[in-house]
Amino acid sequence: MRLQRFLARAGVASRRGSENLMTAGRVRVNGEVVTELGSRVDPLTDEVRVDDIVVHYQDAPTTIMLHKPAGYVTTMSDPQGRHTVSELVPREQFPGLYPLGRLDTDTTGLLLFSTDGALGNGLLHPSHHVDKSYLALVEGTPTKAELDKLRAGIMLDDGMTAPASVEVLSGKDHSCACRAMQLTLPFSPGKLRLLKTPAGRKGEMSLCRISLHEGRNRQVKRMFGAIGHPVIALHRDTFGPLSLGALPQGSWRKLTDSELDQLNKLVSGC
Ligand code: URA
Repeated sequence: MRLQRFLARAGVASRRGSENLMTAGRVRVNGEVVTELGSRVDPLTDEVRVDDIVVHYQDAPTTIMLHKPAGYVTTMSDPQGRHTVSELVPREQFPGLYPLGRLDTDTTGLLLFSTDGALGNGLLHPSHHVDKSYLALVEGTPTKAELDKLRAGIMLDDGMTAPASVEVLSGKDHSCACRAMQLTLPFSPGKLRLLKTPAGRKGEMSLCRISLHEGRNRQVKRMFGAIGHPVIALHRDTFGPLSLGALPQGSWRKLTDSELDQLNKLVSGC
């Protein structure tokens, strides 16, 4: 981030005042006087001093939501050089942002990031039972008996799942779900009979909504797989009290104070 922004955020002076300190030669980064206004610092690793006093970067924690597109790995850096969600969030502006949980590379939807470790740990802790809701396009049409298995809890290779709420969408909900998932499919209410799916598959498929509070690896895909209806496309549209709304794919926004209050209440158990 720019040095003058760093100084202003740390409360040393206003942005203009920080620029004056710099041009007066009173600011050092790692021992070197820095007078150039465009200079950048890494708040996590660089040592900044004003008049020889170390400046500690302090900022109110920041929490944002991203509408994750498909094709991005949920990590802040990837040794294999794949596209990661870090390319889509303001990591320079808010150093220390990290994703709260993960979505698979091909999953779209609501992904939270925070610089607030306590909030992140709280939200991800299984004891807080934060509900997440997904739209899943699945092969075939699950029967009531199959859905009941998911509702009751189903055995996966890492143990029984907690009860989930799940339904096959029809009519109006169907078209809303298609819009949310950015699917442009010819469909008839109740069932999708497609000539060709986005994944190039043929045959019948259904749009389902599933809500659960666990966060195991690939859980939704494994749950539908276990009842014989593999997931073709998956989209998360809510996380606890938050929903994606009209946030465009690939965009992020800061949470509002009211949204943050609701999350903090969840975590503190109030
Ligand atoms: N469940 C999955 O299977 N994948 C995700 O990305 C999220 C939940």
